[in-house]
Amino acid sequence: MSRLVVVSNRVAPIRQGKATAGGLAVGLHDALRQSGGIWFGWNGEVSKRPETACETIGNITYVTLDLSKPDYDQYYRGFSNATLWPVFHYRIDLARYCRKEYEGYRRVNAMLAEKLKPLLRPDDILWVHDYHLIPFAAACRQLGIGNRIGFFLHIPFPAPEVLTAIPPHEDLFRSFCYYDLIGFQTETDRLAFQDYISREAGGRVEADGNLSAYGQSFCAGVYPIGVMPDEIRRQAESYRGRRPIIGLTTEGRRRKTLISVDRLDYSKGLVERFQAYERFLEHFPEHRHNVEFIQIAPTSRSDVKTYQAIRKQLETVAGHVNGRLSDLDWTPLHYLNKSLDRRTLIGLFRTANVGLVTPLRDGMNLVAKEYVAAQNPADPGVLVLSRFAGAARELSAALIVNPYDCLGMAEALDRALRMPLEERKERYEDMMQALRAADLNAWRDTFLRDLRSFGRHRVVTA
Ligand code: UDP
Ligand code: G6P
Repeated sequence: MSRLVVVSNRVAPIRQGKATAGGLAVGLHDALRQSGGIWFGWNGEVSKRPETACETIGNITYVTLDLSKPDYDQYYRGFSNATLWPVFHYRIDLARYCRKEYEGYRRVNAMLAEKLKPLLRPDDILWVHDYHLIPFAAACRQLGIGNRIGFFLHIPFPAPEVLTAIPPHEDLFRSFCYYDLIGFQTETDRLAFQDYISREAGGRVEADGNLSAYGQSFCAGVYPIGVMPDEIRRQAESYRGRRPIIGLTTEGRRRKTLISVDRLDYSKGLVERFQAYERFLEHFPEHRHNVEFIQIAPTSRSDVKTYQAIRKQLETVAGHVNGRLSDLDWTPLHYLNKSLDRRTLIGLFRTANVGLVTPLRDGMNLVAKEYVAAQNPADPGVLVLSRFAGAARELSAALIVNPYDCLGMAEALDRALRMPLEERKERYEDMMQALRAADLNAWRDTFLRDLRSFGRHRVVTA
């Protein structure tokens, strides 16, 4: 049996009780825990003399390395997170471009391929993840690595009109075509990619769905990342850890609670959400004193300017909502700028009446799926979900909202809090069925099955 070698920028061994924010790390950890394999990439450290370290926990072998400061600045903080991330999330207004950073991005991809090469066996299958590593396969091919290499994009793939705002888009996507199989979260993402290949790259889409461009042929498919719904349900049932005292009046009466959990990122629609909550309390004053909103928002990429700006803005809006509406015995909004471990989150999801997941753009959003899976089947809460989250394709039984429609979101909150038990149960059953039909094992197994059957061994020079 060939070995699975997973490559991603962020490699995060998940240890019991330790918080890790980020869908990629959570998803890959759970997927690899079942199948076993090697996980190669950056360990999150920056140092003067980057070295590779190896550690095996369970059946996952982590091979990780530090980044040097220039590599971190140019490849991670620069081109990946100040150019690619905003553009792929439709925020050209927040993107900036620097040629030196793009050169650094290419250089780090080449360096990672070189470090990985001596570890590889000829029949290993490589599965590369996310926007940091678009040119990774091309770098491997240049080193003569002929293994099958698949790529999965965790974030949205935008329309070509948006993508072409990236100055070196042609060079970038030329190198993308060296993968054997490219996976997307939704059909919309796959179609946008296909559009780019045929309209911008002068490539071809064959009748069987195979693609060719820049002299390479490759496949593309849709593989929505999932969760392990029944495992989450069991964890939620047996959770005995810290319970929040939020949601209780001084007399111990239970208030209804809303919960949101997001990395502090401008793509998550946090400001719009706080404003919608304020509008909800204005428009439906009967909910005042009877509801509390908990927002968990761990800091993310805090040395990127746009992230510093969103944090400030959020603090202002949170202060405004509480300053304006709080009472001596009631705080409407609890904004926690910290991360929590997933067990605690799952326990919290179980107790919350509404899960509020309203990104402006999101590849998938695992929190939406985790919230549903953690519910009590006999008395489930309601998921309010943005139409711009990839998860909205599968979770169409959620209350779907447009995060740019402040009043619409306020009305959805009111509806969620008033929803009769029968309707809540029906929606929950429908969503659980969708989660079970496309769980995390299915994501991994279908992607790897397709990579094995469509991908070809080849040695090409880029
Ligand atoms: N998460 C966590 N602790 C936190 C915040 C988030 O463990 O304090 C986890 C969360 O449970 C989910 C993941 O991080 O599994 C976030 O994934 P999602 O797809 O929702 O968003 P991303 O951060 O990848 O954009
Ligand atoms: C999203 C991205 C991942 C990334 C994660 C956390 O999920 O798709 O690639 O790992 O955010 O971001 P960070 O920059 O801390 O790795």
